[in-house]
Parts: sequence; C-alpha cells; structure tokens
Amino acid sequence: MNYKLFNESLLDWYYEVRRDLPWRETSDPYKIWLSEVMLQQTQVKTVIPYYNKFIKKYPTLDSIANENSESLLKEWEGLGYYNRIRNFHEAVKEVQSTYQSEVPNQPETFFTLKGVGPYIGGAVQSIAFNHKIAAVDGNVLRVMTRLTEDSRDISKQKTISSIKAHIETFMPDDAGNFNQAMMELGATVCTPRAPKCITCPVQAHCESFKNNTVNLYPFKKKAKAKKELYFNVYLILNDQNEIYLYKETKDLLQGMYKFPKFDVDTNVETIEDKLHIELSQPQFLGEEKHIFTHKVWYMNIYVVHTTSTNDHFVPLNEVRELPMSVAMQKVYKYIDETI
Ligand code: ADE
Repeated sequence: MNYKLFNESLLDWYYEVRRDLPWRETSDPYKIWLSEVMLQQTQVKTVIPYYNKFIKKYPTLDSIANENSESLLKEWEGLGYYNRIRNFHEAVKEVQSTYQSEVPNQPETFFTLKGVGPYIGGAVQSIAFNHKIAAVDGNVLRVMTRLTEDSRDISKQKTISSIKAHIETFMPDDAGNFNQAMMELGATVCTPRAPKCITCPVQAHCESFKNNTVNLYPFKKKAKAKKELYFNVYLILNDQNEIYLYKETKDLLQGMYKFPKFDVDTNVETIEDKLHIELSQPQFLGEEKHIFTHKVWYMNIYVVHTTSTNDHFVPLNEVRELPMSVAMQKVYKYIDETI
C-alpha cells in the first residue's frame, strides 16, 4: 500500500465530509478527554446530549474535579459502563492536585492516570496535542483488517497492539485528524454491514475490496452466549411513603442505587430475615428484561408493603435524584401502578 497516498486521500475526504460534532469545536484537552471517555463504549448519537449537558454544567476541569461523585454518577445515568465516570473523576482530581489542573501534554504522564488505557491515551494525546499515537477502536480495527486482509482475531489484545503499532509506522503529522478520520471512515463508510465501498475514499488501497473479500473482515471469535439470570425485584413501600433502596458497593454498578433483588426461588421469609423487616404478601406487577454486555437479566417485579422502617428507606419524591442503572429504572417505572 502507498501510505502517503492513502493518508492524503483519507484526510482530504475527512476535511470535506466530517460531521460537525460538538467536541470537534474545541481544542480544550479536558473537553476532548471527556468526549473520548463517553465515546469509548457508546455511539455518537447517544453521547451528544450527555456531552453538551456535562460541558454546560462542568465547563472546566476544576468544576468537575470539585463535584461530588454521587452527583456525577447521577449525571452519567443511562450512559452505562459507570466505571468510566468513576475513573475519570479520580483522574481529573489527580490532574488538579498534581498538575495544576493542566491535562498533561506528555503521553507517559497522561497514561499513568486512572482509566487511561491505549485507546483513551491515544485519542486524547493525538487530538488535543497532536502526538503520533494511534487510537484503535472497533471502527479502526474494521478499516485496517479490511484494508490489509488481516484475518487475525480482533478480540485478542495481541492483534490490537500489532495493528496499533502498524498504524504508527505510517500515520502523518496531523495525528489527531488522522485518528478521527479513521474512526469516521469506519462509522460512516466502512460500516459493519453493507459497507459503502463504492464511495470509499481509500478504495484504491483496499486489498479486500480488490479481492472481493470485504465480508470476511474483521474476524472475531464468536462470543460466548450471554448468561441468563432470573430475579425477583421488590418495590418495598412503608407507611411513610418511603421505599427500600440499597447502594451497590461493588462491581460495575458500584455507587448506584438498587431495589432489593433475589433469585426467583427465594421465599419471603428469607427476604425478611435478610432485610430485617416484616413484609406483607408480594403482588406481581410485571416483567422486564435488561441486556448487559455479557449477561441478560429477567426480572419479575413485585410490590410489597411493610410497617417497618430503617436507614434504607428513602422518601418516594427523592428517588429520582439518586443515581440508578437503566435496569433499575425499568423497575421503578412500575411505581406509578402502585400509588
Ligand atoms: N468515536 C470515538 N472518538 C470519536 C471522535 N472523536 N469523533 C467521532 N467518533 C468518535
């Protein structure tokens, strides 16, 4: 492949057709960083309203570093992968305390921050500071494996690192725009299904187009089937118009509020023992399904009354202010049927 011509065709195309996205209007490294954290596992169209809301509420790195983590989690509600905002918050606090609130312009330093892996590090350091580091996401893997007929398994870290190193041998000085152009090509032209090869600006360089093998790439070993989990989830109401909630202390949903949930075969006496409250007979409200990356939750939702109270009970009119995962919001919407 003639990389010089490839780079020219790609960048000419990008300057002409790139989408006007809000994070492309700024050169503020903090804002670019925030956008890449949001975009890492979420589509552009979902990210846009969250990005705008965050930038309005937290226009500077200090304003987000000074916020409390529960309010941030609440603002992030619905974007998922909540570790991203917890790590980002840790990282901006470190930038504030150690680097005078200036996002480090040295890759080695930036990579030491919490949540900064190869993708975020490459994206931010190239877009904000033009360091020549490739940012390899799913789009870029698809573009590269098709261009070079690379049949290695893209779910393997080794493949990703090798593709990253390859890109870094030819990426141009305009590193930030090059990385964004590669992503843009993957998102809009070199799409997973029915790629638009006919209008592709780098068609002349593409091995798989030439050999009519585009559909064979990227190769990814089949993921294991998602684990299916069955729960009963309880909306437990007391006489003071309060509802039972607990705060998750571990795993991915750490810090988010949840309604008590138990395996479907758990009887009411066991729940009473575990929660230290007395319960009336549960009434079935409905069922909901929630799909996570590696598992599926099937939830039967019940309402149950109690005369007890304790620290877990929260007034119903305050529940909306607490951070809650999308799965639990699906449960909470049944509250309207109970009051
Ligand atoms: N996906 C990840 N980073 C992106 C960016 N900067 N622009 C558009 N899509 C992206």
